[in-house]
Amino acid sequence: MTGLKMAVLVSGRGSNLQAIIDGIQAGEINGEIIAVISDKREAYALRRAERAGIRTIVIEESPPEAFQQALLNCLRALGPDLILLAGFMRLLSSSIINSFPGRIMNIHPSLLPSFPGLQAQRQALEYGVKVTGCTVHFVDEGMDTGPVILQEAVPVLEGDDLDSLSERILEAEHRTYVKAVQLFAQGRLEIEGRRVRILPPAPGKEEIV
Ligand code: GAR
Repeated sequence: MTGLKMAVLVSGRGSNLQAIIDGIQAGEINGEIIAVISDKREAYALRRAERAGIRTIVIEESPPEAFQQALLNCLRALGPDLILLAGFMRLLSSSIINSFPGRIMNIHPSLLPSFPGLQAQRQALEYGVKVTGCTVHFVDEGMDTGPVILQEAVPVLEGDDLDSLSERILEAEHRTYVKAVQLFAQGRLEIEGRRVRILPPAPGKEEIV
């Protein structure tokens, strides 16, 4: 059994993509990445995918409507069970979201609904919060507004600057994203309005910690 078929959308560095690749290789996620799709040809994430022997696709169409249509066509042709946004810096069109209901996830570097949008770590530092973190959520049509799947809190330490805080949040992101994908692969996520219920593991299966 090959398990869950995933498409991962990226725009940059790809460390969250790498965490998912590593999670699959370690046997923590029962599934495979069928393609990594980028809106930026130079994204380092594409090199990571190539290194892991994963198909890469670049979509650079403009204007935005042409891009969204090309992405929708591409995703329909691939037919993934789950789409992961991993540092993908564009909003998805409603046609894409409606074509994959409850099957698109995003990782965001704050405890949503605090600090949505760009530079969430900088927003947290500038606001002066003592605790921030990361959120994995299902994607709806808003910006970082969909139902929350998992969150991990990260303290803001006295000596933190943007780099040190971002680095600690990133470590939490990698753990949290792998866990959320594991739960999805095990069929344990149920969306009820804004709440995502996490169902108990099947008999004989171990709890994810
Ligand atoms: C991550 O911190 C991710 O949470 C953030 O971009 C970074 C991508 O890093 N995403 C957003 O801010 C989306 N609103 P990566 O390319 O190394 O995974």
